[in-house]
Amino acid sequence: MERTIGVIGGSGVYAIDGLEDAAWQQVTTPWGAPSDAVLTGRLDGVRMAFLPRHGRGHVHSPSTVPYRANIDALKRLGCTDVLSVSACGSFREEMAPGDFVIVSDFIDRTFAREKSFFGTGCVAHVSVAHPVCARLGDLAAGAAREIGVTHHHSGTYLAMEGPQFSSVAESRMYRDVWRADVIGMTNMPEAKLAREAELCYASIAMITDYDSWHPDHGTVQISDIVRTLTANADNARRLVEALAAAMPAHGPCPHGCDHALDHAILTAPDAR
Ligand code: ADE
Repeated sequence: MERTIGVIGGSGVYAIDGLEDAAWQQVTTPWGAPSDAVLTGRLDGVRMAFLPRHGRGHVHSPSTVPYRANIDALKRLGCTDVLSVSACGSFREEMAPGDFVIVSDFIDRTFAREKSFFGTGCVAHVSVAHPVCARLGDLAAGAAREIGVTHHHSGTYLAMEGPQFSSVAESRMYRDVWRADVIGMTNMPEAKLAREAELCYASIAMITDYDSWHPDHGTVQISDIVRTLTANADNARRLVEALAAAMPAHGPCPHGCDHALDHAILTAPDAR
């Protein structure tokens, strides 16, 4: 199967440039409409599908993003891999605004979102012990190295519900007690749904702020976030391009992301 990279762009990343045969495609899914049409095309010969997570014009909040429809739309377009690009706050002094983090694990603190394609009628329990595809994560890290952006090869991302930012007490707890490295509002349940859809998933988190814990930095301001994102949007696009150039054109996932459901479904075939 030809590998196809789906890119879910977050705040500040509403399209990718330089696609050959570029076309915005409307996709319908049983889970409703995705956040927006999907921009498909080829980058260095690699099939790509780009979906702006919040929609062009930024119309979906983190809690109202149609995560199931988004993942299903990318699956229907033939994606094998999903790369998330999003903004995040940092809990580590050395992970500074402007740096990129290749997320290696997640803590899911979201609570007001549909988190599974399964439920009544068909029950499945996939493993998300390792929610990031190690190959896709390594390709992302290689791409970050190639374009020369300051990046961190691993980091635990705490996904919060939002839309408000954290209090100082919450921020300190996530940092000091839970040992999270970065915080954002969108990568969950996206990563879990990608696993259920048997897609490889990795996340590039662009640090925009120090959340609320840092004594020398003020509270999180959306204007600061947008400024840092705008300054880094070009790096995000270059990183996606470098990753596409390094992606093997064919072949299965060496870590089995594409077989995640093999032993996960409990419901008997004649009861589904
Ligand atoms: N996105 C960017 N910065 C963030 C923060 N500090 N908390 C949650 N989401 C964010």
